[in-house]
Amino acid sequence: MRVAVTGSSGRLGRSLATGLAALGHEVVGLDRAPAGLVGVDERTVDLAAPGAAVAALADLRPDALVHLAGIAVPFSAPERDILLTNTALAHDVLAAAASAGVGRVLAASSPTPVGYSSPAWRAAAVPIDETHPLAPANAYALSKVVIEETVRMFARTAPGAFGFFRPCYVISPEEWAGAPTQQGHTVAERLADPALAAVSLFNYVDARDVAGFVDAWLAAPADAIDGEGFFVGAADALAERPVAELWREFAPALGPAADDLGGTAPVFSIAKARDRLGWSPTRDWRSELAAAAAASAPAAPATPTGARLDDGCAASSPRTRRESAHSAAGTAAAASEPTAATASAGTAVAPAVPTGARIGDECAPSGPRTRRESAHSADGEPAPTGPADTSTITATTTATNTGTRTA
Ligand SMILES: NC(=O)c1ccc[n+]([C@@H]2O[C@H](COP(=O)([O-])OP(=O)(O)OC[C@H]3O[C@@H](n4cnc5c(N)ncnc54)[C@H](O)[C@@H]3O)[C@@H](O)[C@H]2O)c1
Repeated sequence: MRVAVTGSSGRLGRSLATGLAALGHEVVGLDRAPAGLVGVDERTVDLAAPGAAVAALADLRPDALVHLAGIAVPFSAPERDILLTNTALAHDVLAAAASAGVGRVLAASSPTPVGYSSPAWRAAAVPIDETHPLAPANAYALSKVVIEETVRMFARTAPGAFGFFRPCYVISPEEWAGAPTQQGHTVAERLADPALAAVSLFNYVDARDVAGFVDAWLAAPADAIDGEGFFVGAADALAERPVAELWREFAPALGPAADDLGGTAPVFSIAKARDRLGWSPTRDWRSELAAAAAASAPAAPATPTGARLDDGCAASSPRTRRESAHSAAGTAAAASEPTAATASAGTAVAPAVPTGARIGDECAPSGPRTRRESAHSADGEPAPTGPADTSTITATTTATNTGTRTA
């Protein structure tokens, strides 16, 4: 199937595009800058430019489209900009897909519309599934609610073609190896301090598992996906202890129903995707961290005598992503429960240093980010402090050459 992926150079897009290509799809990536993806036809385009989405899809004529592009981090830009950018972009891309007669169109939403970032929020039921009431508490979550409704609108005009998914906290291959996650801290740090993962209710998903989900979604019967949404998460919680043991201290909004989340059970249910699409995730944090630690082990002797790469940013100069990756993976493996280190690293591996990545987040000049600083940049967090980062919507001045092939 010829599949166009918007936002293909992003945290999720890189793994999704290469993963779909590895599964046999002909993938065209649409982004403002290429990421050097193996097996992906990357086109440079600013989809927010007037007419750009229509021109791109009229040229490409894909069988399917997955829309990821947008501002992906709550409070990373002024609230109004997030709302207008995400909703307008989604509307324009989906409208262009409808006009071009694209047979399957899948848009990225988020779990945040459920509303758990609000201090007043209480879970209506646990586990949380797609029937849970929505209560968006910031412009990002609201933009996703609008995107979901936009999907339903187009589903009425093109039955069997449109749907959306709610990816949980995305962890890309390099992040298992220690690169900073969306919040700036590593997976190891997120596990070591349950307060970090509690802000998203311990949800996560391996970015490559999202490719498997999209593949299943594309192959599903029309009535299984028509205007529907799916949580896409791991089969376990991103926590070293059962959520049943953690919720009282770290996520009291879940309430006593969370007492039933014993073992490794996640807060978000993925039963709908399993039952309707036959999809289940194949990766979990224990095996991925063990595999990453095993992969990095041979590099250990190169460490200078007495030096520690997992020193919590004690050095004055920023660490490289590679150094960071090795150290954090080792720390994580030591902290996690022992598991088999034989898990496959998968077939779709994104570039080690993605375009636009901010590798200095872990080691800010003033030292490690505090829990509060990290939490504010998370998917679904309380209101932030400090200046908004509008880079996502301003760094596009030269990227309007719709359809130009760059890689
Ligand atoms: N990362 C997560 O944990 C997570 C969780 C839930 C939902 N999501 C959603 O998944 C999608 C992808 O998230 P991500 O983490 O990969 O985001 P990201 O910020 O890493 O990537 C977004 C990509 O979209 C591109 N883009 C933005 N505006 C564009 C435009 N006008 N034209 C062309 N390209 C444009 C950017 O260049 C970037 O490569 C987003 O819609 C996000 O809201 C992500």
